[in-house]
Amino acid sequence: MTTETTKVPAAKEPWARHKRLEKNVALLGLFAFGAVIVGGIVEIAPLFWIDNTIEKVDGMRPYTPLEQAGRDIYVREGCYVCHSQMIRPFRDEVERYGHYSLAAESMYDHPFQWGSKRTGPDLARVGLKYSDEWHVQHLIHPQSVVQDSVMPPYAFLAQRDLDPGDMGAALTALNRVGVPYTQTDIDKANVDLAAQAGAGGDAADLQKRYPKAQVRDFDGNPDKLTEMDALVAYLQVLGTMVDVGGAKAQETLKQEQGR
Ligand code: HEC
Repeated sequence: MTTETTKVPAAKEPWARHKRLEKNVALLGLFAFGAVIVGGIVEIAPLFWIDNTIEKVDGMRPYTPLEQAGRDIYVREGCYVCHSQMIRPFRDEVERYGHYSLAAESMYDHPFQWGSKRTGPDLARVGLKYSDEWHVQHLIHPQSVVQDSVMPPYAFLAQRDLDPGDMGAALTALNRVGVPYTQTDIDKANVDLAAQAGAGGDAADLQKRYPKAQVRDFDGNPDKLTEMDALVAYLQVLGTMVDVGGAKAQETLKQEQGR
């Protein structure tokens, strides 16, 4: 018996046409581009039409001007380099940080702060976890409250006057990308900002338009409106808008009843 292999003519190999594609850079590029386009359309296009891409939840509201100013400082200082703001639906995360983040909870975040790097803990639900005093002390000198912390100090924030510029313009920009600020919110932006920090103005009017907005002097120094006021106001609202405690309790209840 011979072990001779019979040669099939190259043109008849089933992959011959594919070979031609692989050897022609322009053609391969074109086909790869086509594949990416089709895949992209299949993945992304439906999101523009289905209504429940972001499930509606009660309690979500745009940030107040003071919280937004604090958020700008958070981004400016690069806090996101060490902190994420997205609790993933894994048991270890949920047990440590609380209910996993809902899509709706970051729908007014521009830019979003989800992050993929955690040198420090996730901050998506840090609001009302600590007192204002704790945050101020921690930001001034992290190691004075968490001995082995590697977080750098941000003491200067307590000294610097908050200079938000025209918050109306900032809110207008956010409005253009879909954050539902009203014309009143925009016109009153700077007045609202001062009112929330207890620096004059009508706090009741602010809370009518921004339900459950926390109104007080945040940095422990009522004589001055500082960057610390804004940053702490922002940290204290994180994860507090939606009552996930209630939702989680209901979920647990449902599971228990099912058993
Ligand atoms: C070099 C990385 C780094 C940077 C930058 C950083 N942090 Fe941290 N942060 C940490 C680490 C590590 C911890 C955990 C230890 C501690 O509590 O200090 C932490 C803890 C925290 C906590 C307490 C969280 C909790 O649940 O206990 C808050 C709030 C916080 N950081 C806010 C900020 C803010 C606001 C900024 C920006 C102004 C910032 N961090 C910048 C590393 C960082």
